[in-house]
Amino acid sequence: MSLLVHGAHQVVTPTGSDARRGPELGALTIRPQAVVRCEHDRIVFIGEEVEHRRQFGEPDDLLDACGGCVLPGFVDPHTHPVSAGSREDEFDRRLRGETYMDIARSGGGINSTVRATRKASSKELLATTLDRLDRFLAHGTTTIEAKSGYGLDLETELRMLEVIRDADGMHPIDLHPTCLAAHEIPPEYRGDPETWVQRLVDEIHPEIAGSGLAEAVDVFCEEGVFDLEQTRRLLADADRFGWRIHLHADELTPLGGAELAVDLGALSADHLMCVTPEGVAALARSETVAVLLPGTSFFLRSPWAPARALVDAGCAVALATDCNPGSSPTESMPVILALATLGMGLGVAEAVTASTLNAAAAIGRADEIGSIEEGKRADLIILDAPTFHHLVYHFGINLVRHVVKDGRVVVRDGLPTVHR
Ligand code: NIG
Ligand code: FE
Repeated sequence: MSLLVHGAHQVVTPTGSDARRGPELGALTIRPQAVVRCEHDRIVFIGEEVEHRRQFGEPDDLLDACGGCVLPGFVDPHTHPVSAGSREDEFDRRLRGETYMDIARSGGGINSTVRATRKASSKELLATTLDRLDRFLAHGTTTIEAKSGYGLDLETELRMLEVIRDADGMHPIDLHPTCLAAHEIPPEYRGDPETWVQRLVDEIHPEIAGSGLAEAVDVFCEEGVFDLEQTRRLLADADRFGWRIHLHADELTPLGGAELAVDLGALSADHLMCVTPEGVAALARSETVAVLLPGTSFFLRSPWAPARALVDAGCAVALATDCNPGSSPTESMPVILALATLGMGLGVAEAVTASTLNAAAAIGRADEIGSIEEGKRADLIILDAPTFHHLVYHFGINLVRHVVKDGRVVVRDGLPTVHR
């Protein structure tokens, strides 16, 4: 099976198989009028049309970019895509002055989604997750990291991870599952959080590791949730379980989560709205990717993460939606790019690398995805606009016209081609 993407105004991509840093973050390769040939799930050629004709025969399928811009599919390295219910009531409460933590402590927040998710059947959870994946795909995302964390008991956490596994098998998007059983203190342990930490360590994490349903683990390291010492204990067995580490770090308070993530050799430290200069310096010296989630700052009306300082210090910076019902209910990476540029001060080219190659590095997959290069997976998007700048310039509009995943056209003219 071969596919030729032709008729592009430009083919734009970062290059390499690890995260780009500092001045290299904005170094995109721009090939005017290039064609891209995919065979099976791989990219085999990028270059001039005449050269393609010399080297290859007729492809099985053609996709006309109609003067649009071709980019790598977005990789979203931080999402909470499985949940039931919604929290628009909290949106209104926040507009009237309550904070995210006020609402959480009064029974809302994560625990309100936990109540709804525990009650939902696996079939219902799968159906709403697949709907969400359709929206991710329509906005150009071809791979996501996917967290559990709205069960906060063994049975529901396992059910969430099974939903992620089943959705991965049924949907074109690739899902990388993360166990986030340590997302909050569940209501039954409110008065005794220490017993919850010990249950996670002794029973829940080992059982989930044994199920093989997660490839990574995450903890919400935050004042009033899990402190540094508890987070360290929660992650002590990660290596033994074969789990990579992501960490919700320095989101609402400067606890030192970034430094802890580096110390533990985490794949990523995420949020970082309150990261300290010491945390920035620690990240800059490490391989840990700083995953920034400007949708959360926008939606909670809280400060932006210091994106410029992180990039300029030499940290590996990536972008993600944080898609979840409480603090960032969006599946759209183009919205995140708009916020990353206009809100956090990244350049457009920097935001493109941060949401493709560096985002792939944040889930340990930069050798396979995140750029348009021969040998990489054929995950591409074609914009209904000539240059990549339109992604943020023409804001609030979905410019993604076609999506190619693993060498197959899965969105054509804005419509899914794979029906389930
Ligand atoms: O990444 N910070 C913790 N977890 C999510 C919010 C989840 C929720 O509010 O439901 C986050 O922002
Ligand atoms: Fe999150």
